[in-house]
Amino acid sequence: MAGRKIAVVGLGGIGGVAAACLSLSPENDVTVCARRQIDTLTFDHHEDSSRIRLKTLTEPDMAEPVDWAILCTKAQDVASAAPWLEKLCTSKTTIAVLQNGIAHEERVGPYAKGATVLPAIVYYNGERLAPDHVRLRHISGHDLLVPAGPQAGAFAALFDGTPIDVGISAEFITYQWRKLLVNVIANPITALTRQRLGVFQRSDIQDLSLGILREAVVVGWAEGAQLRDNEAESILETFLGYPAEAGTSMYFDCLAARPLEIEALNGAVVAAARRHDIPTPLNGAMLTLLKAVSDANATERG
Ligand SMILES: NC(=O)c1ccc[n+]([C@@H]2O[C@H](COP(=O)([O-])OP(=O)(O)OC[C@H]3O[C@@H](n4cnc5c(N)ncnc54)[C@H](OP(=O)(O)O)[C@@H]3O)[C@@H](O)[C@H]2O)c1
Repeated sequence: MAGRKIAVVGLGGIGGVAAACLSLSPENDVTVCARRQIDTLTFDHHEDSSRIRLKTLTEPDMAEPVDWAILCTKAQDVASAAPWLEKLCTSKTTIAVLQNGIAHEERVGPYAKGATVLPAIVYYNGERLAPDHVRLRHISGHDLLVPAGPQAGAFAALFDGTPIDVGISAEFITYQWRKLLVNVIANPITALTRQRLGVFQRSDIQDLSLGILREAVVVGWAEGAQLRDNEAESILETFLGYPAEAGTSMYFDCLAARPLEIEALNGAVVAAARRHDIPTPLNGAMLTLLKAVSDANATERG
């Protein structure tokens, strides 16, 4: 019997996969909060493809309080999702934030209506092949990671018996910064150069990447992340093993002239650096340039 009321807000790559997987557990009563009506989602995983029935709402006024809100918009769209949270949340709700970046609590807290905000690191690849068709690819290790604490076990239990593996860590901040480090080079450099990961084979791009990473590592240390002395070099080395033809979400958003998630990535490094009085000129340059691109994209879209 479906006892847990869950709302998935945002039906993109990550939200689509989350909604499909959560719907596989008979204990979950899943509602999708989206901007278009989608009643059936095709879900690809490994060699399998299945059709999942969805209960979708497109009007926040129709939403009712839930036990769990799974927020899967891009970071810059949190404010636009506020009308959903307004209806979905009470002080008994937990909002799991499946987004890149850090500072999830600060970003979502103002719209949470007293609900608990649970940040989650997303490791799985969720690709939206069409508005009603998503594909899950596992990258390595856990698919999601949440910080150890009162809500962690109950969140992991939502995905029991589904293809999503949820890890729980007391070292969450360190993992959050490691993921952020990959994102502060991968996303802005592919977006600005309009080239896929193959651009990182250039030695000048590698030098720039190391500069961005070394700045961010110092900020991560100041924020309490247990990063290694050679973290920047090691991240870049791992990164160079990724497929040259792979793109990043900011690269695709840039090509499609959509607003960019830059404030949550290099912007988060710059904001944290300010708190500790640490200079971050390279991250600042990425932020300034991509904010200009993002604002132009937003203006173009009206
Ligand atoms: N995709 C990945 O593999 C991956 C991996 C790791 C981390 N992440 C992170 O996960 C987060 C989600 O990424 P994503 O790839 O799923 O993004 P996405 O494909 O762009 O999906 C975001 C979804 O949110 C919806 N949305 C935006 N504002 C909304 C609103 N006010 N009400 C309802 N729906 C709204 C969008 O609707 P429309 O379709 O109408 O625009 C879209 O369907 C990001 O922080 C990203 O960096 C993604």
